[in-house]
Amino acid sequence: MNEPDSSQTVFWTKRWEVGKTPWDLGGIPPALASYLHRTHTATTALIPGCGTGYEVRAFHEVGYDVSAIEFSAPAVAHAREVLGPLGERVIHGNFFKHDFAGKQYGLIYERGFLCSLPPTRWPDYAARMASLLPVGGKLVGLFLYGEEPQPPPFPMTKESAAYLLGKTFRLVYDEPVAESVPVYQGLEHWQEWERVAD
Ligand SMILES: C[S@@+](CC[C@H](N)C(=O)[O-])C[C@H]1O[C@@H](n2cnc3c(N)ncnc32)[C@H](O)[C@@H]1O
Repeated sequence: MNEPDSSQTVFWTKRWEVGKTPWDLGGIPPALASYLHRTHTATTALIPGCGTGYEVRAFHEVGYDVSAIEFSAPAVAHAREVLGPLGERVIHGNFFKHDFAGKQYGLIYERGFLCSLPPTRWPDYAARMASLLPVGGKLVGLFLYGEEPQPPPFPMTKESAAYLLGKTFRLVYDEPVAESVPVYQGLEHWQEWERVAD
């Protein structure tokens, strides 16, 4: 039987069940700590594909009204255990199917989510992000650029990123990250994309 592709819940659940989570940093990325330190715009925030969701606590501690969403049951259970009372901020659901009831967020945080999706799903990602952020809202976090012979992760190129996000977002900050977990090493950039009018 063919292995399910990485847009399927079962692909990730198989990995969470056996603790095969090489993307898990065990805490928040230094680039996020730096962003939270240099910006003072606490607003509503969403973390899609949150995994363990360490960032929920980091955003909460500086005043964000933060939610996260994750579709793999063992990942949700793990996040809720790690986050304690803040675990209630983790929605068990599919980012592409969940009914956000028209809600928009001031900020959406990206790490390891876009690159987990086969590129055929990237247009859905861009459209969903655009619908969840008002003009002026921010899509910030760690995006992968480069080559990966055995995806996932699926890194972008500057050209594919511009094609994907360039119509509804403007890149306002971009910095390569020196140190990453081995599966992302040399590929991560901290980026801030601002939602612009369509
Ligand atoms: C590579 S992991 C990254 C986890 C986390 N963001 C981190 O940085 O450690 C990707 C996560 O996204 C989740 N995921 C993938 N597609 C999803 C979807 N459509 N809705 C919600 N979660 C999804 C997977 O279950 C997995 O836990």
